[in-house]
Amino acid sequence: MKVSIIGAGYVGLVTGACLARMGNDVLLVESDCGRAEAVRCSKASFYEEGLDELLASVELEADEDCRRIRDSQLIFICVGTPCNHDGEMVLEQVAAAARDISEVLRQRDDYCVVVVKSTVPPGTTEETVIPVLEHSGRKAGRDFGVCMAPEFLREGKAVYDFMNPMRLVIGEYDTRSGNTLLELFRDFKTPVVRSNLRTAEMIKLAANVFLATKISYINEIGNICKKLNIDTYEVARGLAYDDRIGGQFLNAGLGFGGSCLPKDLRALIASARQYGYQPHILEEVQRLNKSQALKPLELLARHIRLNGATVGLLGLAFKPETDDIRDSRAIAITAALLNEGAAVKAYDPMAVENFKKLFPQVAYTTAGDVLESDAVIIVTEWPEFNNLDYGGRIVIDGRRVEKARVARIYEGVCW
Ligand code: UGA
Repeated sequence: MKVSIIGAGYVGLVTGACLARMGNDVLLVESDCGRAEAVRCSKASFYEEGLDELLASVELEADEDCRRIRDSQLIFICVGTPCNHDGEMVLEQVAAAARDISEVLRQRDDYCVVVVKSTVPPGTTEETVIPVLEHSGRKAGRDFGVCMAPEFLREGKAVYDFMNPMRLVIGEYDTRSGNTLLELFRDFKTPVVRSNLRTAEMIKLAANVFLATKISYINEIGNICKKLNIDTYEVARGLAYDDRIGGQFLNAGLGFGGSCLPKDLRALIASARQYGYQPHILEEVQRLNKSQALKPLELLARHIRLNGATVGLLGLAFKPETDDIRDSRAIAITAALLNEGAAVKAYDPMAVENFKKLFPQVAYTTAGDVLESDAVIIVTEWPEFNNLDYGGRIVIDGRRVEKARVARIYEGVCW
């Protein structure tokens, strides 16, 4: 099929590359010249496992201008929806993409489907996107179709997740819109959930917020376990065999970061409040996640005086296999350590360059040198941290790195 994608960020680029791989004719529209040029050179502007190889193996077109989408059967909106200070998602880029598409619709007389893939608050496609598209003088349902198809890609595993989805969620304006989009995925053997537009928008938020809640839940159990001298990971092992609970996302520790879980949690809280509902559980999930990041300082203070000490951080990325530091626990930990008068040394296999922009005063060094600090905090569970020699050190482990348990003084955050 002929497909256009507005936005060559994380979701747009992975979607474009995978759809091209599946044999579709894909055009990426990206207003940032640097990013558009990177696509033309078959390069991703961020690290994602397998993406560079995939880009090298497909033909992807990129353009800064939207006009070339006029012969696309499907037009995906994959632009960013950052949060403002109140946690509400800023929909400017979504509205701008809809305006650009509307200009093209005005000049078309054939049927196409506009698909919102950006994560947006429930109601956005109906209340913001469709009215803008209809400024073209063309009518949703009659002249063009509309879908909301959220993505469930994990950073670091995005290509795999796209090709092997656990389910497809298709929010549709009408059956014809959904049928047209599903043509793209006709070879996928995966459950398909069809719904209206606002339900699909809610499914995406509810999925991420559930994961966030599950993590804060196990961290709460973990904080209690720590006081009772019980190993949370053994407790989790006993929970995992209950299919109703499931074994994933029960890794207790420093809590969740990244560009999605924290942002979607904030956005759902903001939406709920906007509609006059106070989301008590979600607010508590957020509070707990904030305080969880600072647990290592509490534990460290039992063993050393922070003022004047050098504390080493192992890991800066929000999770392993990525260079992404958005909402990484390392940010709150570094800020708090510096505030306490400690000096900070840090090592991460991929995220140093990004972290340097936030904290130029940190000494970036090797893992071995980090271990020479007065005390070490493990922030991200990079596999290579399981090969270090922790003997004789003081280690606060935020991510359960087994090898670190031999340290002279070893404290797990929740065990
Ligand atoms: C998350 C979801 O898992 C994806 O399904 C979703 O598509 C994506 O957001 C998105 O909305 O785009 P991602 O942010 O890449 O994916 O990362 P996760 O693997 O979910 O991890 C998020 C955070 O939770 C990390 O900081 C991780 O360290 C933490 N985490 C995860 C825990 O603290 N404990 C766990 O047991 C699992």
